[in-house]
Amino acid sequence: MTETTQATTRPDEQLASSIREDFPILRATFGGRPLVYLDNAATAQKPRPVLDAIQDYYCTANSNIGRGYYKLSMAATDRYEQARHTVQTALGARHPDEVVFTRSTTDATNLLADTFGRQLVGPGDQVVVCGMEHNSNLLPWRRLCESAHAELVVAPVNERGTVNVADFAALLGPRTRLAAIGHVSNVLGTVNPVREMTAAAHRHGVPVVVDGAQAVPHRPVNVADLDADFYCFSGHKVYGPMGIGVLYGKQELISALPPYQVGGGTVKGVSYAEPVEYVPVPARLEAGTPNIAGAVGLAAALRYVAGLGWESVRKHDETLVRYAVESLNAIPRVNVIGNPEDDPSGIVSLVVDGIHPYDVGGHLDEHGIAVRSGVHCASTFLDSLGLLGTVRISFAVYNTLAEIDAVAQALNTVRPGSWTADHPATRFL
Ligand code: ALA
Repeated sequence: MTETTQATTRPDEQLASSIREDFPILRATFGGRPLVYLDNAATAQKPRPVLDAIQDYYCTANSNIGRGYYKLSMAATDRYEQARHTVQTALGARHPDEVVFTRSTTDATNLLADTFGRQLVGPGDQVVVCGMEHNSNLLPWRRLCESAHAELVVAPVNERGTVNVADFAALLGPRTRLAAIGHVSNVLGTVNPVREMTAAAHRHGVPVVVDGAQAVPHRPVNVADLDADFYCFSGHKVYGPMGIGVLYGKQELISALPPYQVGGGTVKGVSYAEPVEYVPVPARLEAGTPNIAGAVGLAAALRYVAGLGWESVRKHDETLVRYAVESLNAIPRVNVIGNPEDDPSGIVSLVVDGIHPYDVGGHLDEHGIAVRSGVHCASTFLDSLGLLGTVRISFAVYNTLAEIDAVAQALNTVRPGSWTADHPATRFL
């Protein structure tokens, strides 16, 4: 590298510029403008190795798994189980059978509420969640509590946008059966002290479910280190395909779960006369033909991120989040919410005084910038913040400081539009 290029290379470019070519969609233009994709917390774009792995699976191994006494089916089964092994390694799980493939994080939390939750929670019991939960880690537990005549208890969020361990611990008691904790807020990008919260819960004998949907793309997650009893995430947010997710569970807990859905692949044999005998987990929890190509693609995505190096991914996140907080807060009427710079996790949420988040989102879209605006499937959290919604900018490994400059430039010219706080459909996204 020459002195001149060293002087002009911005810190983000070390990672982003070397890999942007891996992501074909980033060459797209909209209305003649290059795509500035900053909605990665909703879904991340897919790199070539992931697209290639999916295509290769369909071109060379496609068949159903565990159901064919022929070589092609065995090859597909191998690829699926290798993918499970890759997830096991990525999460630091002790055994591949601790990894169940689901459709998504939502599918995983629903599975847990309908199996583990139903076994555990009864009338008068309590389930603790955090005040920042995404609906996918709130509604399954709320519905469980409603049907079991139990109580949903909500841990307060502090002024920096996370939960204090002491506040959480104070809610745990003899009636607490379960705690469900978001690792990283999908609204603010703030990070909960999951390890300490889990330790506090365990002191009360309370098992912990962690929603890691927004954590896994941004930090190395080690379930043994966190001591999480269950950990869920989605493939599509970590550069993998849609329709594949993961439920990790400690072997002694996950192996005891009853079937969630029943059907092909879950039983040893069925007769009309005898009781049904189910196969062990993970197959017991993966009824029907699984998303084999999805699992293969997810494994490729996890290898891709690991290949970039977590240190560079974390450094990149820090550079982008800190730069975004500083430059966006400097714009008149723009306020970043919470303190995402405390422990950057790729999300920065903001409001523009006097302008509806949908109008801000629409204005950015006119500049070729894709962000999410609204309540982010977490209206309970937005209500507690006293906000109608936010504009959420969320980063991936391919984003650059120049893209943040583009947001800042566009925000300088945003004006009130057609949305108002009393519009009848004012909070639908
Ligand atoms: N859960 C995704 C988000 O936060 C869709 O945008």
